[in-house]
Amino acid sequence: MTKKLAIGMFQTGGVRRTWNMPGRENDRNFTDLSYWTDLAKKCEAAGVDFLFLADSYGYPTLNDAIIPTAIERNVQFSTIDSQMLMSAMAAVTEKLGLVTTVSTMVEKPPTVTRQYRTLDHLSQGRMGWNIVTGSAQAASALLFGEPLMAHDDRYAKADDHVELSLKYWEGCWDEDALKKDSSTGTWADPTKVREIIHDGPYFSAKGVLVTPPSPQVTPTLFQAGASAAGRELAAKYAEAVFLAAESTSLATQIADIRSRAEANGRGRDAVKCLIAGTFRVADSAAEALAQHQKHIQSISLEHAATLYAYFTGVDLLALDLDKPMPASAANTDSGRTNVERFLGENAPTVREILEEFRANGVMGKPFLGTPEEIVDQAVAMIEATDADGFLVQPDPDGGHDLFFAKVLPELRRRGLIKDELPGTTLREHLFGEGQMRLPSSHPGAAFRAEKVRVTI
Ligand SMILES: Cc1cc2nc3c(=O)[nH]c(=O)nc-3n(C[C@H](O)[C@H](O)[C@H](O)COP(=O)(O)O)c2cc1C
Repeated sequence: MTKKLAIGMFQTGGVRRTWNMPGRENDRNFTDLSYWTDLAKKCEAAGVDFLFLADSYGYPTLNDAIIPTAIERNVQFSTIDSQMLMSAMAAVTEKLGLVTTVSTMVEKPPTVTRQYRTLDHLSQGRMGWNIVTGSAQAASALLFGEPLMAHDDRYAKADDHVELSLKYWEGCWDEDALKKDSSTGTWADPTKVREIIHDGPYFSAKGVLVTPPSPQVTPTLFQAGASAAGRELAAKYAEAVFLAAESTSLATQIADIRSRAEANGRGRDAVKCLIAGTFRVADSAAEALAQHQKHIQSISLEHAATLYAYFTGVDLLALDLDKPMPASAANTDSGRTNVERFLGENAPTVREILEEFRANGVMGKPFLGTPEEIVDQAVAMIEATDADGFLVQPDPDGGHDLFFAKVLPELRRRGLIKDELPGTTLREHLFGEGQMRLPSSHPGAAFRAEKVRVTI
């Protein structure tokens, strides 16, 4: 394999499920700033491309009521605001890319563009925005006092949101607009700053993003959510996408994203497809398997069903456990990725879905074994799916430390990852030195100030 894999480290801005496991007591300290700055420093020292913190306002509900297991067992139930952690992480690192989520259902474009541009300044060009329409939308809608928007409408809104956000980032300031010239007292050239006028289906705006351009101008754009509508959004705007499933459906999803990107005039390689994978490394394959099985035993079926409800809004325990899910489940207005992947030909029974969620959650089967075996499995997965790299889930026992200590050196020894991160910005880490800005084939490039003819 000649391509160099991109490596991101996954964490949520919440307490880890391991909080009550022996030796993992530190995972309860997720409200301490040092918990996060230590993690960022470790990722930086390891030389990975980026650290990603997932985020959502949602939590598991069914029929508009919170599921008690969620509270009792902490199933997606205790989080802090990931975005708030970013500047502290930027302060203790110099090269590490920093990626976090804001849902297009929660914040409006002026807020999102100002926040991420600020963070892109503070990190000197290392910020990425993970664009989602949001997990656990039923809970989130109730929390915000809004009606639950239909699934595909949420994606239409996301499209409008990203379009306007790109207009703010790319369209407001010419590159040489900021003068900071004390001899003439000119801060910025009014002929080089433009107002955006947008009249879209969900957002209307007339105004300027007054935060001057940051190193990347537009932060690196990520996307997660692999339903058909999600893949279309990714193919249109994302520069990297997070995917998780078994290799056959991953291969189909990735081929689909690449074809859609090509249809959008961006080229098949415009989107880095990153597989969310767990690497369970041990001294032997048998030991790794035993650890995995012990971990499965620690999770109840109620826990698994609660997690499934969080991602899909579907109550598996109310269905016939010995039959596949009814096809109508695909009409859920919560997340669809984890419904669609269990339907169709050879669909598993509901009991098998529960077992799969108990063992692997949304992430697909872990790689298990010695460092050599694990890297062999990872390479086979990349070859089978045509993916570009991994978003590494923390091993439930060892966290990210074991991956850094055992797997990363093996990846490096085989020349599968970069020896040095190219450039200084996140986009350069992923696409090569000099690629600080969105490429000209990206729809955001069409909004660049010099091309937009709107006058104030
Ligand atoms: C690795 C990975 C990370 C994700 N991170 C988030 C996140 O931070 N916040 C969120 O609301 N959804 C996140 N999602 C996406 C949701 O699981 C869900 O699929 C999506 O928001 C709903 O879109 P869909 O209907 O296309 O599935 C993530 C998914 C994956 C695979």
